Amino acid sequence: MYYIDSLLIKNFRNYKHQQVQFNPRLNILMGRNAQGKTNLLETIYYLSVTRSFRTNRDQELAHWDDRHFFLKGCFLKDDFSNEIQVSYRHNEQLKVLINSDPVKRYDHLQQFPVVIFSPDDLLLIREGPSTRRRFLNLEASRLSPVYFKELRMYQRILQQRNQLLKDKYNYTAINTLLDPWDQALVTSGTNIIHNRIEMIGELEKEAQLLFNQMTNCREKLSLKYVTSVEADGNLQLTKEKFYRNLIAKRDQELKRGSTAIGPHLDDLEISINGYDTRKYSSQGQKRTAALALKMAEVSLFKKQHNDCPIILLDDVFSEFDRERKSHLLAFLKENTGQCFITTAVGLNSLVESLNRDHKIINVHQGSISNEKGGLSS
Ligand SMILES: Nc1ncnc2c1ncn2[C@@H]1O[C@H](COP(=O)(O)OP(=O)(O)OP(=O)(O)O)[C@@H](O)[C@H]1O
Ligand SMILES: [Mg+2]
Repeated sequence: MYYIDSLLIKNFRNYKHQQVQFNPRLNILMGRNAQGKTNLLETIYYLSVTRSFRTNRDQELAHWDDRHFFLKGCFLKDDFSNEIQVSYRHNEQLKVLINSDPVKRYDHLQQFPVVIFSPDDLLLIREGPSTRRRFLNLEASRLSPVYFKELRMYQRILQQRNQLLKDKYNYTAINTLLDPWDQALVTSGTNIIHNRIEMIGELEKEAQLLFNQMTNCREKLSLKYVTSVEADGNLQLTKEKFYRNLIAKRDQELKRGSTAIGPHLDDLEISINGYDTRKYSSQGQKRTAALALKMAEVSLFKKQHNDCPIILLDDVFSEFDRERKSHLLAFLKENTGQCFITTAVGLNSLVESLNRDHKIINVHQGSISNEKGGLSS
């Protein structure tokens, strides 16, 4: 079994200096509004992903009085202990150490899986394509180091190519200059597209199963990759189409100074009974779809690691109706990994029905005290 055993926090959000010991099974973070419950979940997520689920700007994470923060977490798996340390200092590169060895930021993305459920999950459905692209990139990178490497390469190629398109060369010169970048963009972009399509297929399988359970098979959830490139099942054919379409957009690209097609413009369509959830679904359907996707994410990590990821549930139970709550509860019972639940109210009945060894952690103004936990019966 895999879990986070202890955590040291310095200057992160509203925590000045805090040491916490966790229960390997279930941790209930209790406290009134604005005390630091979500901030605590954010530290665990940050250790796993080296990015927050709330912001891309690390400086927001440092305590207002400081321009640096430090986190140290001890993750245990099958008696092996891994200590992850991250230290942030304004205007410096993030330092990450695993068992005292320096590693590059994001290089351990696949190793310590953590999945966060939060009311913001709905944004995946509600917001524009860039939110879903970010989701695809993050998930695919957390599942595969190869994808992450390819993504970095694609982003570099895209940046260089866009720079060339912005520079005002004469038309013949630009074609010669662009040629190697066109080839590179197409090769790397095609790999990204095919990786994404494959991951979406896996995610769809899991999400459909869960969605069926939640809707008693009354409705069908589907996920489709929408690409600007006209992808084909065959890698070589996608490359050829990508290249042809790219050349056809040359004038437009030169006018705009940016690359007009490629995976940086693609989208994930989430639909129920064939209709795009973003445009046509009710609030309830959107919530159910978002929950199914999250649970599917857990299933993918579970398959990959042969072990449950750490699950963080931020305020989820207060947001859900009875039916969704009971599905989530059933899912948690099946997924026996370590779980963190934040709440502003008592969760006695939930803790009772989970029937798990647990710890209650009281959060008050950026400081933590423990209440007796135990095994509810
Ligand atoms: N960089 C920071 N430095 C200091 N305090 C911060 C920082 N960022 C956020 N905070 C403070 O942290 C508190 C919010 O913490 P958090 O989001 O964890 O609340 P919460 O306990 O989850 O509350 P709720 O139940 O309303 O979700 C706020 O009071 C906010 O002002
Ligand atoms: Mg909160």
